Amino acid sequence: MSSVGDTLDGAIVPGKVPAHVAIIMDGNGRWAQQRGLPRQQGHWEGVKSVRRITEAACRIGVRYLTLYAFSTENWGRPKEEVSALMSLLVSCLHDEMPLFMDNGIRLRVIGQPDVFLPEVRTALDAALEQTAGNSRMDLVLALSYSSRWELTEAMRSAARDAKAGSLDPEHIDASVVNRYLATSFMPDPDLLIRTSGEYRISNFLLWQIAYSELFFTPVLWPDFTEEMFYAAIADYQKRDRRFGKVSGSNQSK
Ligand code: IPE
Ligand code: IPE
Ligand code: MG
Repeated sequence: MSSVGDTLDGAIVPGKVPAHVAIIMDGNGRWAQQRGLPRQQGHWEGVKSVRRITEAACRIGVRYLTLYAFSTENWGRPKEEVSALMSLLVSCLHDEMPLFMDNGIRLRVIGQPDVFLPEVRTALDAALEQTAGNSRMDLVLALSYSSRWELTEAMRSAARDAKAGSLDPEHIDASVVNRYLATSFMPDPDLLIRTSGEYRISNFLLWQIAYSELFFTPVLWPDFTEEMFYAAIADYQKRDRRFGKVSGSNQSK
């Protein structure tokens, strides 16, 4: 653990820690395949990274950590893999409860809740309820999530409100759109990390990452360490976020 302290002291500026970090946790399957193991084994190993990175994020003062855990498109994977992922989620919610409670972590979910089997739904509801009073960091799991699903839902919901007379179409601006998104309770990601060497967004937070800093690493998710996470944060801290303005001007949105 001393290396964590060293890394923190040496590389991370405490006052400039991103409030919201989002991660596309990719590469579990390849990690397993490289070792001649079934893909599921990679997902199990990936949970250890979730634990490591959650603790690390909490330690440096990240306020929101959003993890892309299962996309809408992931339902199209072989049945066995989907059901292994669901079982993993249920056991993880149970096993990681001490981690959540000890670190003041509030669990949140963005995604389509009604598509899960009842046992998954029950485990999720219990974990959401148990952690609801925690306030140090929100751990946001994107589950059965895709950005196009979210935007479609938002439009449907806004159209309904407009029809009912509670929303004036002329008053729709970016902040109104935000209110209709699954992410309405948190700010946009400051930093988006994707592991596994893929340079794509895969239907994740398309609206919200308009001005996020992007960090891609070839490292597969199960091999992603807290030192690598800290290095990504340090890299972020060196960037000049201009938000379309010029360097040094008022950068508020
Ligand atoms: C990410 O790892 C986890 C999920 C999408 C659930 P993958 O399972 O996509 O791993 P690769 O990309 O096939 O290596
Ligand atoms: C993105 O990874 C989804 C998650 C990490 C949950 P995928 O492996 O599903 O994305 P593609 O297929 O490489 O775009
Ligand atoms: Mg993948």
